[in-house]
Amino acid sequence: MITTDFSIKSFKGGFDNNFSYLVTCMRSGIEIIIDASLRLDRLKPFFKSNPAMILITHTHTDHIQYISSYLECFPDIKIIGHPDSNNNFDNNRFIPISDNSTIEVGDMEIKSIYTPGHYFDSICYSIENVIFTGDTVFVGRTGRTISNRSDINELYDSVYKKILKLPRDTYIYPGHDYGVKPTITIEENIKISELLQANGKSDFIDRMANYEKNRKIDS
Ligand SMILES: [Fe+2]
Repeated sequence: MITTDFSIKSFKGGFDNNFSYLVTCMRSGIEIIIDASLRLDRLKPFFKSNPAMILITHTHTDHIQYISSYLECFPDIKIIGHPDSNNNFDNNRFIPISDNSTIEVGDMEIKSIYTPGHYFDSICYSIENVIFTGDTVFVGRTGRTISNRSDINELYDSVYKKILKLPRDTYIYPGHDYGVKPTITIEENIKISELLQANGKSDFIDRMANYEKNRKIDS
């Protein structure tokens, strides 16, 4: 594995305290974006070059709603996402990524982990000890499974058999600012999250049902 230096700048806004991230390889200077959740003019002042790509965590509207302005402004920018998301990106700049694959950007190695459940095309992206989890895992809980292409069984497998199997000192950078702080390690997140403490799938489904029952805000 290449070990490099990279920086992460977080931007909050969009539909519902969404996060977009600007990730910069400190050696090559190459920049990438995670999700097009915020208006381009929020991020643009911080670009030092033309960003090379936008990595899409899933295609719920709030995560891709400003993508056309990025495509217009940066003619060479590529979009990375799930192959089945292609219908959402009617252009030849979409690069489908398969599960458990690696893309090299500058000196960074970015790994894809398919995490269906919250939505069918959810992908997490990891760089060294950081993972961008989209709406699969937030600080304090998992994503929800209320979309028409959600699946709670798949979410359990994605969270418990993939994300929580990563090293416990991995930092989660989620798709929304829903927790007590913007980012957290997996170890600490398990400690503060009842939805990450399930004993098996049926316990997880019970915990999710309980969470939805007691949920006060419909967002
Ligand atoms: Fe979502």
